Amino acid sequence: MLEAENLHVVNGPLVRQKLKVLRDEETPTPEFRQAMKELSLIMVAEAASAMPTNAARIRTPLAETEVEEISRPVCLVPVLRAGLGMLEAGLALLPEATVGFMGLQRDEETAEPVEYYVNLPQALDEYLVLVLDPMLATGGSLSATLHKLKEYGAEWVSCLHAVAAVPGIERVTNEYPAVNFYVAAEDPELDENAFIVPGLGDAGDRLYGTL
Ligand code: PRP
Repeated sequence: MLEAENLHVVNGPLVRQKLKVLRDEETPTPEFRQAMKELSLIMVAEAASAMPTNAARIRTPLAETEVEEISRPVCLVPVLRAGLGMLEAGLALLPEATVGFMGLQRDEETAEPVEYYVNLPQALDEYLVLVLDPMLATGGSLSATLHKLKEYGAEWVSCLHAVAAVPGIERVTNEYPAVNFYVAAEDPELDENAFIVPGLGDAGDRLYGTL
């Protein structure tokens, strides 16, 4: 288990149950997609627990009372394609969120991320940003994403990953100490193709049936 102040392991029987479904090579695409969504609900709720809030006063049908509201708008940033598997959960809990997109594809030879589409709100400093990507392997895609978010002015950023490999976690937690990282599983290593072991295979392919 890695230790870093900005690393948060989302855990518990329900999380491990969802991970079991996701990791099993026998899980068909519809069940895989459903388990990814359910795990993402838990992870978004966990990451949201660190969001800044404002106090407000409202009236219930019975009395005036103090309540809290999340203090800034939220921007969800799925990293295409696999991050789309976490987006529905994000929008279920944060229906007013803006959605920005990062299109990255790892080069199969070098495992380096290649950017093919970026569509982000300009003034990202106004938002609480949640990056969604089921997989953190070498950390190359996430590092490129965080670099881009910084260019757009992002200040408050948390990243959510179902399965993260130790080398990738070490890289991004060191490179971005002000960013928080939420992972449901810490896997020990990468294979010669930079795939997470034991992992769950290629999340994009398993979500969208392109195996
Ligand atoms: C996968 C995954 C991450 C990235 C992780 O995407 O969803 O974005 O690889 O690897 P890294 O940490 O080594 O950069 P992939 O490039 O396979 O694209 P896809 O989501 O379109 O399948």
